[in-house]
Formats: sequence, structure tokens, C-alpha cells
Amino acid sequence: PERQNAKGWDLTHMPTLVDIDAARKPFAATQFAAQPLTATNPDDPRSPAADATPIYNPAKPDDLVGHVAAATHADIDTALAAAQPWDADVATRARILNAAADAYEANAGQIFALLAREAGKTMPDVVAEIREAVDFLRYYAAQARPDRSARGIWTCISPWNFPLAIFTGQIAAALAAGNAVIAKPAEQTPLIASFAVALLHQAGVPAHVLQLLPGGGAVGAALTADVRINGVAFTGSTATARKIRASMAMHCNPGTPLIAETGGLNAMIVDSTALPEHAIRDIINGAFRSAGQRCSALRCLYVQDDIAPKLLKMLKGAMDELRADDPWDISTDLGPVIDKAAHQNIADYIQQAQAEGRIIHQLDAPRQGHFIPPTAIRVDSIAQMDREIFGPVLHVATFRAEALDEVITAINDTGYGLTFGLHTRIDDRVQAIVERVDAGNIYVNRDQIGAVVGSQPFGGEGLSGTGPKAGGPHYLPRFSGETREPIAD
Ligand code: NAD
Ligand code: ALA
Repeated sequence: PERQNAKGWDLTHMPTLVDIDAARKPFAATQFAAQPLTATNPDDPRSPAADATPIYNPAKPDDLVGHVAAATHADIDTALAAAQPWDADVATRARILNAAADAYEANAGQIFALLAREAGKTMPDVVAEIREAVDFLRYYAAQARPDRSARGIWTCISPWNFPLAIFTGQIAAALAAGNAVIAKPAEQTPLIASFAVALLHQAGVPAHVLQLLPGGGAVGAALTADVRINGVAFTGSTATARKIRASMAMHCNPGTPLIAETGGLNAMIVDSTALPEHAIRDIINGAFRSAGQRCSALRCLYVQDDIAPKLLKMLKGAMDELRADDPWDISTDLGPVIDKAAHQNIADYIQQAQAEGRIIHQLDAPRQGHFIPPTAIRVDSIAQMDREIFGPVLHVATFRAEALDEVITAINDTGYGLTFGLHTRIDDRVQAIVERVDAGNIYVNRDQIGAVVGSQPFGGEGLSGTGPKAGGPHYLPRFSGETREPIAD
């Protein structure tokens, strides 16, 4: 019976990465801690209980997951002074990164528990995230080359929505190129970051090569305003990327590179030749998987008016099958949003749409925890959306066949350019639309999330990022180059 989920599906033959239940259960109530891990102070003696901030499970506000002690100014200065590029030869660096990948797999149970309890990730999302992190480690290890020189010290700043995969991907590329890394995880997810750094250190990455500085925007700001850094890899919102660019222009050397991977206002066009069952599956996945907390997520669906009544009816039916609940439960489709602030922001947005009579469909969600009910909202055009709503909210517009050009112009005019989806069975139309839409990743007749390292390099253009694409051949070379001495003031 325990191999059946709440929907009655028989899971007996479901392939699993590990025996999930057995591996994660010991960590159901474990408390974790994160603190600065600097080269001169790898075992921070500060008692996490004394001056640390508690971190609660976004699905269960009374589940205390652990504590974090944020980095101080002294920690930042110590880390910058102690950081040294990795002088091991290329083969050694690659071997150690592969050993770290093995360690991630061997510790999948604990990582499972951390991703579910600290970040509210569902089990399918956790499996995908561990796989992606492991792929990044092995992919960049395979790309390490003796003819690439390290630039020096990289600041790696990551978001909470991929607290293991993106955190690891930035670090792995910088390390494979022989750099020193100072990693600043998102303030919401330092525990998983701390566990990952412990595994990287155990695998053989020296303490002066990889240091961890937990904390919020102030720590990130300090780490991007110091002439000693030789590069910044940032993933997060477009607004923060702008601040970082301004700060680097003021404080860093002119040639110090910034790789910024940022937000999106992603659209999908479904024309009247699309296969509705297929399109619906991909719309649901793109908009609601991970509770819509993916930069790649579908935000605005354009449906051709001829098929709109049928497709919307099917969309409501498919939404009714979704279950928003505790991520620890194997039959949950979407978990909570990350924290109270995110919840308030999205709830206010939905309330406004409700007041304007624009709700097409909305489900229920648990009242305890930061859950947002999956919601579909009517819009006339993507131009009506002035910002990225980072949650399970799908906007739906219809279009007439003659207005297809206007739709594409409106999508491009947002200024973002991350993902785009198209469902059609007309080959010429695929060619014509794909050539005109400005987006880093375009997906035809499939969903628009879940790019696979090595085969689907991921990254946007315009307001969505600087490139090069993560998980592609041009990413790691950006972390290499001549190291230049700072220009004296
Ligand atoms: P955020 O910009 O608020 O924070 C990202 C990181 O930047 C955090 O570690 C934060 O502490 C740090 N930070 C905040 N202010 C800073 C400052 N002034 N200087 C330096 N660092 C600072 O973003 P978030 O809410 O954590 O993440 C969600 C956003 O990330 C969404 O917009 C999403 O689209 C985007 N994202 C993009 C990609 C991509 O590959 N393009 C992937 C994941 C997430
Ligand atoms: N790389 C992640 C995706 O493609 C963001 O969904």
C-alpha cells in the first residue's frame, strides 16, 4: 500500500535515484547549521545558537530546519585576503570535481531532506536538481584544460530557487578553470549551500580555494565592490544584476567580467493546429511545476481564438488535478513559495486581478505554510504584465491568426528574452516564429523548463542575462583569462 500515492497510482515500478524513503527519513527532524567557512577559519567556533538566524520550513512554519550565522565585514575581508587560485594541475582538479559529484550522489538522502525542508522542493524537483548539480560538476570537470589560465578570485552569487544546482554550477565552472571562489548563497537557503561546500571540501577542494560567506544582499554587495575580485558570476533578479553592474563599474577594474543570469517574462504561443492534449501537459508543467518558481517558467500563454474555448476548458480540468501540499509527500505536485514576503507579493497581485474580475480559474491550497493556489489570470496582452510574478500564476491571452505578428512584437517588446514555447504542427510557422522571437532558449512542441546540462545550454538575452549560457561550451572559458594586477587608485 505504501507504494501507492494519494492519486492511487502504483509506484512499485517507479525508478528511483535512491530508496527515497529510507534515505531521507533520518533527516526529517535534524537541525542543520551554516556559518562563514573562510580559509583561516574553516571551523567557525561561533555557536550557531548564540547569534544565528533561525530558518523555518516554508511548508510548515513550525519546522525549524536550522540556523545561519551571516558573514561579518571581518569575515569578508578575511576571505578576500586568504583566497588563492587553485594551483593543482588540471587532472587533479577534474578528479576532485568528479569526486564531489560522487559525494553528492552518495549523500542524496540528506540533500533530499534539505531541499524539501529548506527550499520547499517537491520530490521530482529534488531528483532533477541533484541530477543537474552532478551534471554541472562532471561537465565542467571534463572541460578543464591546461591551456586555460585562472583569472583569480570569483565571487559567485546564487538564488534560492536552485539552491544546489545553480550554486554548484557557478562554483564548478570557476574551480575547473583554476580560480579561487567566494560563494554567497541566497539568504533563504544557506543550509543546503553549507552542506554542498562541506562535500566539496571533503572531496579535496582546498579551504583557501573555496570559501562560503552566507548572508543577504549586503554581503553580496560588499563582494562585488572590491578591487581584489577578478570576476562575478551572478544568478538572480534583473534588478539585483543592475545594482551589481553599477557597483562593479565604480569599484572594480574595467575588465572584470560579470556573468549575470536573470529573470524572464516567458511566453508560449499555441496555434489552432496544436495537439491540445500535448499542449496542455506542457502548459501545466511550464507554469506550475516548482510552484512557478523557475526563471524559465511559462508566464503568458497566447492561445489562438479558434481553439481557445476548448483549450481553456481542458486547462481548468488539468489544473483541478494538481495537488499543492507538503513537498515531503510523494503525491504533491507543487509545494509552497519560498517565504512570507514572496507569498504576500503574489497574493496581493492575485487579489488585484480578482478585484478586476480577471481570474479564469483558481485551486485551493493549504492555509498553513506559504502556499499560493495555482491560478490562471486573463490578460489582453503580455504588455499588461509589468514584472515577473515568481509563483504559480499563469496569464492567458487569446489572439486572432491575423494578429500573430503583433503578438511576437509584444513578446519582444517586454525586453526580456529567456525562454519561449511554441505549439504548432505547421513546419513553416515554426521557422518563421523561431527566427523572430528574441529568447535564449526556444522550445517547440514541448514544455519550456528543465534545460539539460550539456545538451541544452541555458541562458537569456536582453533583460534576462549577459550570457554565456550555463551548461554549454562557452561558459567555462569566460572564467579563464589573464589575471591582471589591480589598477592603483
Ligand atoms: P535576488 O536578485 O533577490 O537575489 C539573488 C542573490 O543576489 C541572492 O544571493 C541575494 O542575497 C543577492 N543579492 C541581493 N542584493 C544584492 C546586491 N545588492 N549585491 C549583490 N548581491 C545581492 O533573486 P532571488 O529572489 O534570489 O531569485 C529569483 C530571481 O532569480 C528571479 O528573478 C529569477 O528569474 C532569477 N533566476 C534566473 C535564472 C537564470 O538562469 N536566468 C535562474 C534562477 C533564477
Ligand atoms: N535551468 C532551469 C530550467 O531550464 C532554470 O528550468
